Amino acid sequence: MFLFISRPMGTLDNRMRAVRDRLGEDFNSKLDELHLNALRTGLVSTADLQEAYRKAREINNNQNRLNLLWLLGIIFFILVATPVFYETISFLLGVRCFLPNNHLVWEATRPISDCEFCKGVSAPLILPNLTREEFARYAYSSRPIIVKKAVANWPAQQQLNYSYIKQLYESVPGSLDDVCQFQHFNSDLKSLRQVFKMSPSRANLSEGAPWFVGWSVCHATVLAELRKLYPRPHFLPVDAEMPSTDFILMGYEQGAVMHLDYIPRLMWQAQLQGNKSWFLTPAPECDHQCQSFFFYVEPGDAVLVDTRIWYHANTIPRGQFSFTVQSEYG
Ligand SMILES: [Fe+2]
Repeated sequence: MFLFISRPMGTLDNRMRAVRDRLGEDFNSKLDELHLNALRTGLVSTADLQEAYRKAREINNNQNRLNLLWLLGIIFFILVATPVFYETISFLLGVRCFLPNNHLVWEATRPISDCEFCKGVSAPLILPNLTREEFARYAYSSRPIIVKKAVANWPAQQQLNYSYIKQLYESVPGSLDDVCQFQHFNSDLKSLRQVFKMSPSRANLSEGAPWFVGWSVCHATVLAELRKLYPRPHFLPVDAEMPSTDFILMGYEQGAVMHLDYIPRLMWQAQLQGNKSWFLTPAPECDHQCQSFFFYVEPGDAVLVDTRIWYHANTIPRGQFSFTVQSEYG
C-alpha cells in the first residue's frame, strides 16, 4: 500500500522539478535574447544595462533599509508609548496601577514547585522559647514553626491595641496619607482612615459586623514609635536581614483568605492579642505528595512560615480581637 502511494508521488515530484527547470532555462534564455537584441539595436550600451542593474539593486537595498527603519520606529514607539500611555491612564484614573497586580496575576506567573518543602510535613514544629543558638538549626527551614511564648514579654503585648494605634496615627501629621499596601480582606473598610473613623461600637464588634485589615507601616515616625514596643525577635540570627517596614494585622473573625505571599524573605509573625488559626496547604501540583493541615497560635507566640511556598489562610475565633505584627527575615 505504501509503495503504491509513494511511487506515483515520487514521479510527480520529479516531473514538477523538470518543468520548473525547463521554465527557468526558458526564462533565462529569453532574458539573454532580449539583452542581445537591445544591444544590437544600439539603443542601449552595456554600460546602460549595468547602470540600470545598479539602480535596480539600489532600489532593493533602499527598500530593505526602509523596512528596517520602520521596524526600529515601531519598536521605539512601543517602548516609549507604552509607559506614557500607562502613566497617563493611571493618572486619569487616580490609581497607582490600572493593570491588576493581584494574586491572580501572581498565581499565573509563579514557578512550579518541586514539592520538596512539604514532603512528610503534617504539622508545624512547636518549639519552646529558645535562644538564638538553639534556634540556629531551624532558622532557614521551610518547615512551619511556632515558638511558644517567644514574644510574651514584649511591651507591645500590653500596650498595642486598636486605640493606641489610632491615637498614634492621628497624632502624627501626614501619617494617614503615607500608608502603603493596605489590605481590607473581606471588610468594607477601604483605607486606614476609614478604619480609624469607625464608631467605637463598630470597632469593638458591638455592632456585630466583623472587620479585618492589614497594612504596611512605612511612615518613619509611626514605625519608630511602634518599634519601641517590640524588638526584633531575640531568636532570629543576628545577621538576618530585615525589611525597613513592618506589617500590622488586626480585626475580627474574617482573617486572610488562601494565598501566597510575594515577599523576598521568610515571614515571622508575633501574635500579640487573640488566637489565630492557620490553614496551610501546599501548591496544587504537590497535592499527591503533601498534605494540608491546621494549627493555631496563642497570644505571645511567634509563628514562622515560608508564606512564599505554603498557601495559607487565617481565621480568628468568633468574638476575639486579633492583633499581629508581621515582618520578614532572611
Ligand atoms: Fe500572607
